[in-house]
Amino acid sequence: MSVVLKGRSLLTWLDYSAEEIRYLLDLSKKVKAESKKGKIRQRFTGKTLALLFEKRSTRTRCAFETAFGEEGGHPVCLSGADIHLGEKESIEDTARVLGRMFSAIQFRGFKQETVETLSKYSGVPVYNGLTDLFHPTQALADIMTLEESCGSSKGKLLCFVGDGRNNVARSLMVICSKLGVHFTIVTPPELNPDAAICEQCAPLAAISGAKITVTADTAAVSGADAVYTDVWASMGEEDKKEERTKLLSPYQVNQPLMKKTGRADSIFLHCLPAVKGEEVTPDVIDGPQSRAWDQAENRKHTIKAIMLATLGC
Ligand code: CP
Ligand code: NVA
Repeated sequence: MSVVLKGRSLLTWLDYSAEEIRYLLDLSKKVKAESKKGKIRQRFTGKTLALLFEKRSTRTRCAFETAFGEEGGHPVCLSGADIHLGEKESIEDTARVLGRMFSAIQFRGFKQETVETLSKYSGVPVYNGLTDLFHPTQALADIMTLEESCGSSKGKLLCFVGDGRNNVARSLMVICSKLGVHFTIVTPPELNPDAAICEQCAPLAAISGAKITVTADTAAVSGADAVYTDVWASMGEEDKKEERTKLLSPYQVNQPLMKKTGRADSIFLHCLPAVKGEEVTPDVIDGPQSRAWDQAENRKHTIKAIMLATLGC
């Protein structure tokens, strides 16, 4: 059965089958190989992309903008200060208008509901560039990086150490459940992922063979192929910084924690931006086990692959 993704939005990996995700991973690797050979084509010529931002971004914005622009597409960045998104104009109406002018829309912001509404009313592919609930384009780059380092992802053990209820942890739980990657969240009980996402992932993991674990015990990183962390307070949660620092300090990814994997070849991953000295020590993120910089580069290749597939280019 061939995979056809033309016209599809990417709001969360819950909407994609394992086969579709596999197709996008393979396409991302092809896109990266072409790019390394200097083969940039012009597959987005004549197309336009609206990039909407309620929250800041370095990697996601630059990945979308350069991936689309270098292939002849015209990306337009619009912040909350530029357009009427939800202020003076409903999200539905903005979606309808953008859908008449753009080939696709990327949204980064607070509510998952906003990206869903944009997709429902625009009639063009909409990409979730991060909401409070999910960060799906990040998770694709994470799995690509794991596969590049470990040869494959199925049956490997990825341990997320940190805020277990955040958008990155939730997206990893979904993509790992779909693809059969064993996924452990190591977090204090106060920051456990919500029951709803665990319940959504359990049947997916049962099909793929993924073992999904949530624990407060850092010893659970034993045998990990990859240890992953993210900031203690996500964008929009700055007021929780003090409370999070208290809860998550014992979960800092440092050399003693990396040693608990019992493996010298475990890799370290971080979606970035990193607060060095908080969730990760500089010697780990800048050390030999870190793949954080490859992971950041892979954002561009995976995002290009997602746009190529969903725009039918
Ligand atoms: N990882 C990530 O999404 O980075 P930005 O916030 O810089 O886009
Ligand atoms: N969890 C982080 C991810 C940043 C890419 C945040 O939402 O701020």
